[in-house]
Amino acid sequence: MKREEITPALAAKLMETAIAQREKAYVPYSHFRVGAALLAEDGTVYTGCNIENSSYGAANCAERTAFFKAVSEGERKFAAICIAGGPEGSDPIPCPPCGICRQVMSEFCGPDFPLILVQSGTDYRIVTLGELLPEAFTLQGTEG
Ligand code: THU
Repeated sequence: MKREEITPALAAKLMETAIAQREKAYVPYSHFRVGAALLAEDGTVYTGCNIENSSYGAANCAERTAFFKAVSEGERKFAAICIAGGPEGSDPIPCPPCGICRQVMSEFCGPDFPLILVQSGTDYRIVTLGELLPEAFTLQGTEG
């Protein structure tokens, strides 16, 4: 799906889901709640939240939770993702995905893949994966 194809109604639906997912976040250490709504090409929406751990490095971001849930269900084709994050007890603040999540997205999605980033309240902006991760690493040329 191209950035231009995301209607306000679709963005609103995905935002509602991503914001609701923030409630599921397990964040006893950072108290920073992130929710994600990952839209597959067939219309299925996979949700994700961040899940932390007393061994801090074992934390998993909301975006990767959504991708790993989807891929583990056999999904490989994705249309868009919506991300809502912010401190516990507050409305979302701009929360672009971390570098590891950008790399994971680039495994399954091309540079046109749109990300709906909740800014505050119901405001959002749409960026593409290519804008967030130019010159992504791949193993191209080493296979076969
Ligand atoms: N986090 C996400 O879930 N997604 C992001 O894109 C950035 C950071 C989480 C990881 C950690 O649980 C908390 O936010 C603070 O870094």
